[in-house]
Amino acid sequence: MNGVERRVRPGTGLPPRGRRLGTSRLRLPSHRASSATLAGAYPFLAASPPQAGVPVGIDALTGEGFAFDPWQAYADGLVTNPNVALLGVIGVGKSALVKSLTFRSIAHARRVYIPGDPKGEWAQVAHAAGGVVVPLGPGMPTRLNPLDTSATNPEARHQARTRLLVALAGTVLGRDLSPVEHTGLDAALTAAEQAHTTVLVGHVIDALVDPNPTSAAADRTTAAVRAADGRDLAAGLRRLVRGDLAGLFDRPSTVQLDASAPMVVLDLSRLGSDDAALAAAMTCTSAWLETAIASTGGQRWVVYDEAWRLMRHEALIARMQAQWKLSRAHGIANLLVQHRLSDVTGTGDAGSRARGLAQGLLADCSTRIVYRQEPDQTTTTATTLGLTKTERDLLPALPRGTGLWKLPRASHVVHHVLHPDELPLVDTDAAMRHDPATEG
Ligand SMILES: Nc1ncnc2c1ncn2[C@@H]1O[C@H](COP(=O)(O)OP(=O)(O)OP(=O)(O)O)[C@@H](O)[C@H]1O
Ligand SMILES: [Mg+2]
Repeated sequence: MNGVERRVRPGTGLPPRGRRLGTSRLRLPSHRASSATLAGAYPFLAASPPQAGVPVGIDALTGEGFAFDPWQAYADGLVTNPNVALLGVIGVGKSALVKSLTFRSIAHARRVYIPGDPKGEWAQVAHAAGGVVVPLGPGMPTRLNPLDTSATNPEARHQARTRLLVALAGTVLGRDLSPVEHTGLDAALTAAEQAHTTVLVGHVIDALVDPNPTSAAADRTTAAVRAADGRDLAAGLRRLVRGDLAGLFDRPSTVQLDASAPMVVLDLSRLGSDDAALAAAMTCTSAWLETAIASTGGQRWVVYDEAWRLMRHEALIARMQAQWKLSRAHGIANLLVQHRLSDVTGTGDAGSRARGLAQGLLADCSTRIVYRQEPDQTTTTATTLGLTKTERDLLPALPRGTGLWKLPRASHVVHHVLHPDELPLVDTDAAMRHDPATEG
């Protein structure tokens, strides 16, 4: 940055003696520094916004257009991974940003997957994009078999199913499986695979309740002992067969993923507000989606809107983290939407595995977008994300639709601009405007 140099007294920074400070001009000593150094002191000053990618809106400080595409940003060395975390209080435009960003990215040949839409607000976006909506819930005819797998090798198939069942059992039981439960589950799955071509969760439960005596003897136990060891596990998994999730995930799949669909939304809004049911359903849908994704190619967004509802379920976070590790290999950018950072940092007890896993997910997001935060959250947010004081002070004042985009080496305040045609797709305020008293 260039400054105008003035004569100063050596070592004082003051003008020469005998000269009066003008009333119209303040004679400050000039300061020269590179734009990189100045950006450290005042982060918004030097960074020019990324122009390559999907148009998002206007850089509030430069007035220039701001574009973003995680794959492009990765290729340009702006980020070390394509994943994105988005934080913000209720109703500030988080979903609107994600919907329009992913919707616009379809024109750039990206595809979009929503493994769980708990509010049912993505269907209209999927329809507008020519995508597919899979509605799941009581009264709906759609069924997904989470034990479907794309692996052709029997061993890989068995391993994929075991991982899914362990995560599912961990979610419904709310704890890790014991070693005997692991062994019993593995034996039950083997028995179900030997007896059925299309393996269903119900087959595995049957084999848990009534274990194969030969296989039990091979493991130096008896069928009776194994059945006793597997009682909790069978009772937990039964929730998928007889409980509130009955029928949804225990029959052969009625839908196949259309690999050419630009957007696939698994609509879970009919499941209600039970977070445990949502987490179990998400474990199943993400397994089904994982299988579908592995059998297709291309760059894809996987969006976890309302992710804060899932963060209490350690088994699900563990599974998400395992999937994220493979994301780059599959060309996937994950996007996690949270209200505040304590949804992540407050997961489980201090030092617990759940908290470590949740923090790991955040650490795996090179791009962090922060929408308005409550004043009592700004210190935690600033410390965790390494924000400067200027950035921190901005957070409680951000208006709807405006966010701080924190890339590893640059920050931008961006106002997300919606096209008039997009407004009906992102509108979640209709119920607030609807006033039955004024309707005839
Ligand atoms: N950039 C924008 N310009 C104009 N209106 C916007 C913008 N962003 C969001 N809105 C409007 O604000 C409302 C709330 O947006 P949205 O549902 O995306 O918020 P949210 O942060 O996802 O809320 P929640 O936390 O409840 O999920 C919507 O009706 C949307 O149309
Ligand atoms: Mg939302």
